[in-house]
Amino acid sequence: MQTMAVYNLKGGVGKTATAVNLAFLASRDGRRTLLWDLDPQGAASFYLRVKAKVRGGGKKLLRGTTALDDVIRATTFPGLDLLPADFSYRRLDLALDEARKPAKQLAAAMLPLKSRYDLVVLDCPPSVSLVSEAVLHAADLLLVPVIPTTLSLRTLRQIEEFVEDQGPRRLLVVPFFCMVDVRKRMHRELAAVPEMQGEAFLRTTIPSASVVERMGVERAPLAAFAPSSPAAQAYAELWKEVAGRLQTV
Ligand SMILES: Nc1ncnc2c1ncn2[C@@H]1O[C@H](COP(=O)(O)OP(=O)(O)O)[C@@H](O)[C@H]1O
Ligand SMILES: [Mg+2]
Repeated sequence: MQTMAVYNLKGGVGKTATAVNLAFLASRDGRRTLLWDLDPQGAASFYLRVKAKVRGGGKKLLRGTTALDDVIRATTFPGLDLLPADFSYRRLDLALDEARKPAKQLAAAMLPLKSRYDLVVLDCPPSVSLVSEAVLHAADLLLVPVIPTTLSLRTLRQIEEFVEDQGPRRLLVVPFFCMVDVRKRMHRELAAVPEMQGEAFLRTTIPSASVVERMGVERAPLAAFAPSSPAAQAYAELWKEVAGRLQTV
């Protein structure tokens, strides 16, 4: 089992859209995939038509006293399961703070998933917190959507520092440009040649496209309702590249 976290300390950068689309593409590739919606806002759960509710709440889940089988839901897509969000996740930080080894608790809670899934995708809330530290320890790969602006690149460096300080050595940080708007000069200039941002950057960029916003109306991954759209094809390319990186961890 491999774990990929879609993370950024900023909100509204395309984390959830990416997590849902890539989890779907991974499952269609034949990987037994679980998407864990860690954001109390529950957007990923909404997209996959699952109620954002975990009986017993997040604290028991992290402590391992809730059986994962009781709370994991199948989606309408074969091979793709969801561990839904719960409003109690907004207090996960406090729950972790009470734990003996806060940073390791999420990874420990995920151990029973090992034999059941090939890939776990974590859709993370936007924060730098104990939850994020726990995510760093649970993940093999940290996928970071970056909107091409100088401020976002600065945020990326903060994330890299956070990982250097808190994360385990083996964690691979993989940024990519997301919501690229070619009408904006800064977007064109920064995203034109992703490799100029360093070799870690993926070559694929995700365009800003209204079809992505329609995921909220269709409540499905892009490839399920608009497979030939340029944005869906960009996500397919992104998945290929990410799968390649996953092979190296
Ligand atoms: N590539 C894109 N093009 C246009 N809109 C997008 C794109 N990706 C995400 N969005 C929209 O932007 C908003 C924030 O995206 P979301 O994936 O929820 O970000 P995050 O999880 O980082 O907060 C949502 O309304 C979503 O539909
Ligand atoms: Mg989100």
